[in-house]
Amino acid sequence: MHNPLRIAVAGLGTVGSSVVRIIQNEKLSLFDKAGSDLVVSAVSARDKNRDRGVDLANIDWHDDAKNLIQDNIDILVEVIGGADGVAYDIVKAALGKGISVVTANKALLAVHGSELAQLAEQNNAHLKYEAAVAGAIPAIKAVREGLAANQITSIYGILNGTCNYILTQMRETGGSFNEILKEAQDKGYAEADPSFDIDGVDTAHKTALLAAAAFNMAPDFNHIPTRGIRHVTSTDICYAEDLGYKIKLLGVVRKTDLGIEQSVEPCLVDLNTPLAAIDGSLNAVYTESPFAHETLMVGRGAGGDPTASAVVADIIDIARGVHISPFGVPSEKWNDTPMADMDERMVASYIRLIVEDSPGVLADISGILRDENISIQSALQLSEITKGIVPLILITHTVKTKALKGALAKIEKLRSVKEQPFTMRIIEQE
Ligand SMILES: NC(=O)c1ccc[n+]([C@@H]2O[C@H](COP(=O)([O-])OP(=O)(O)OC[C@H]3O[C@@H](n4cnc5c(N)ncnc54)[C@H](OP(=O)(O)O)[C@@H]3O)[C@@H](O)[C@H]2O)c1
Repeated sequence: MHNPLRIAVAGLGTVGSSVVRIIQNEKLSLFDKAGSDLVVSAVSARDKNRDRGVDLANIDWHDDAKNLIQDNIDILVEVIGGADGVAYDIVKAALGKGISVVTANKALLAVHGSELAQLAEQNNAHLKYEAAVAGAIPAIKAVREGLAANQITSIYGILNGTCNYILTQMRETGGSFNEILKEAQDKGYAEADPSFDIDGVDTAHKTALLAAAAFNMAPDFNHIPTRGIRHVTSTDICYAEDLGYKIKLLGVVRKTDLGIEQSVEPCLVDLNTPLAAIDGSLNAVYTESPFAHETLMVGRGAGGDPTASAVVADIIDIARGVHISPFGVPSEKWNDTPMADMDERMVASYIRLIVEDSPGVLADISGILRDENISIQSALQLSEITKGIVPLILITHTVKTKALKGALAKIEKLRSVKEQPFTMRIIEQE
């Protein structure tokens, strides 16, 4: 590597300006760790006149980020965002020229990771993305490098701080989803358009990357069944708690007899397990593997400095000459274990039904469940919410997803059932 190592930063928003600041302010200690002087030599953003709280004197400014890709840079840091458009164009151009890339952009890699990793490989460039998953937590490094001796069996991730904050606040204040979301937006914890976060897309991007790094395979974002937290109610939070659980939006990756299972959905986790203790905007990644057994990493999943911390760590790795394939093994060795058919998955579930409070309703529902061989572990019929309408909470034993879906489709058609049934998976950890 050159000394100094010339870094171009594309995007000077929350993450990009923190990256520049850390590289400038920590110059001496970074030099000792990297073995090279790290220098931001060029930057790009849209508005040249905006104050970004960093010293941009002596740094080349480019209005067009494509002009960053020149022979005189060693590393491109891409922190613009978006799966396509300029981020994709410049990352592809850089890798094509053999320039190493560090990115925090989970959308880009979840969608184009396979193509970009192969391009990096062909051009002997690094493609690093620690900041894209769980911010400051070195989760990619942990599953890909620290646990490399193991064939990891499962990963459970709380990967979206906004969702974890909302679920925590709903539980602590009794507020509704909409009230807490509004409050989170007012405080700047949630985006004006929160759909990527609350509908689970952001978690699915990160889950695809964690799975790829841990299971040495191409990211497969498009096949991750994804549900967010929009339909979780305060009733669910209360009754989950009464039953001994907390609700968490989890990205789950597991190796099962059916293949590799990936999913994003609100789940019930036992109050006595480590993930249940991860509250507020914190992120966490929990792994199970044959030799290391259980590991748990907790930390800040977002914010300028926590995310930039991971970006700069990737830059240091490149400076040190640590060259690791983006998904742990060269592309010709990518794991081709099929994805599990999620309809065949065996899970225990929480079911919320909104039903008429009249004789025979429970018998009708039980009959349908019995016909599909679904056994119920417990049932709670709750006090009325409006005249004659009550929530009915059912907890199933472990059953095949297809059978549960079939039963719920029939239950939904009953005249006494007033809303679409809502289900959440119950995580059964050892
Ligand atoms: N924020 C976090 O906590 C966090 C955490 C983990 C990962 N990430 C990821 O990090 C990336 C950056 O996020 P961010 O929060 O820093 O975003 P941000 O604050 O919106 O910053 C985006 C930056 O990109 C610049 N930009 C937009 N379009 C551009 C273009 N066509 N050419 C050049 N520059 C352009 C913007 O310029 P102007 O400033 O001039 O508008 C802005 O400086 C995203 O992929 C995000 O998913 C963010």
